[in-house]
Amino acid sequence: MPGAPAAGAGPHVMHNNVLGHDNDMSAAIETGGFVASAVRTDAPPAIVMDKVNKWFGALHVLRDVDLQVAAGERVVVCGPSGSGKSTMIRCINRLETHQEGRILVDGVELSDDVRALDAIRREVGMVFQSFNLFPHLSILENCTLAPIWVRKMPKKQAEELAMEYLTRVKIPEQAKKFPGQLSGGQQQRVAIARALCMKPKIMLFDEPTSALDPEMIKEVLDTMVMLAAEGMTMICVTHEMGFARQVADRVVFMDRGEVVESGTPDQVFNDPKTERLKLFLSQILRGH
Ligand SMILES: Nc1ncnc2c1ncn2[C@@H]1O[C@H](COP(=O)(O)OP(=O)(O)O)[C@@H](O)[C@H]1O
Ligand SMILES: [Mg+2]
Repeated sequence: MPGAPAAGAGPHVMHNNVLGHDNDMSAAIETGGFVASAVRTDAPPAIVMDKVNKWFGALHVLRDVDLQVAAGERVVVCGPSGSGKSTMIRCINRLETHQEGRILVDGVELSDDVRALDAIRREVGMVFQSFNLFPHLSILENCTLAPIWVRKMPKKQAEELAMEYLTRVKIPEQAKKFPGQLSGGQQQRVAIARALCMKPKIMLFDEPTSALDPEMIKEVLDTMVMLAAEGMTMICVTHEMGFARQVADRVVFMDRGEVVESGTPDQVFNDPKTERLKLFLSQILRGH
């Protein structure tokens, strides 16, 4: 059952408790068990997309997308290549702009207002498929850049913060190295630590493991399970069904710019309603 608590961790301890409880984290990871739902009904929705439409020129890439994500909720987005998954999550932190409909992040509507945009970017962390670390900066510098320049944090404090998160993602010993000296899995964990240094309320992941060799996928997924176990609101584009089953409150299936189906992992993976989802599932199962 997706809502079943992980061993030793009641849902109540997870509220607002991002990166707070080692025990909850290791219990969830080591048992491979389900991560207790941290959905908060007492808080306003973290993200609201209301009839969002977007075009790239003549190409209609998002079609009347409606999506609500509650605070503490974990949503996995899946769907064929080109279906608009990246565009949808990039619209949430306004790396892309939408043309119709409304998007609210933590109650603030995305618009051309630069101050609102700054506030939203600070609250929303993003991790990309290709890590996007600065190659000429050390791991530590990659992590301290935004806290120093955006949050105006003193350097020493930013370095302490960065070391704290590098420790959480289990690579503190890599701090002085450069991205090119690290494995893909390590670089992706740096990218996660870097995003966390901004203390985001929401984390967006865009196929974070699909550029990785198989042996490195688990270490990155474990880091994401840790975040989930600690109550982070997450939207994750991934085809890792094991991860989806372990942590997702909801799975959303997109095809051709539309949200075609959504439900619990069990509903979406075991009881698909549409031919499009059935076809997609048969393809990814064949690919695994
Ligand atoms: N910057 C862009 N300019 C034009 N077309 C784009 C751009 N980015 C994505 N697209 C197109 O939009 C569609 C959706 O892309 P994307 O959101 O990346 O899909 P997904 O992440 O599901 O693979 C695709 O047809 C893609 O080619
Ligand atoms: Mg994509």
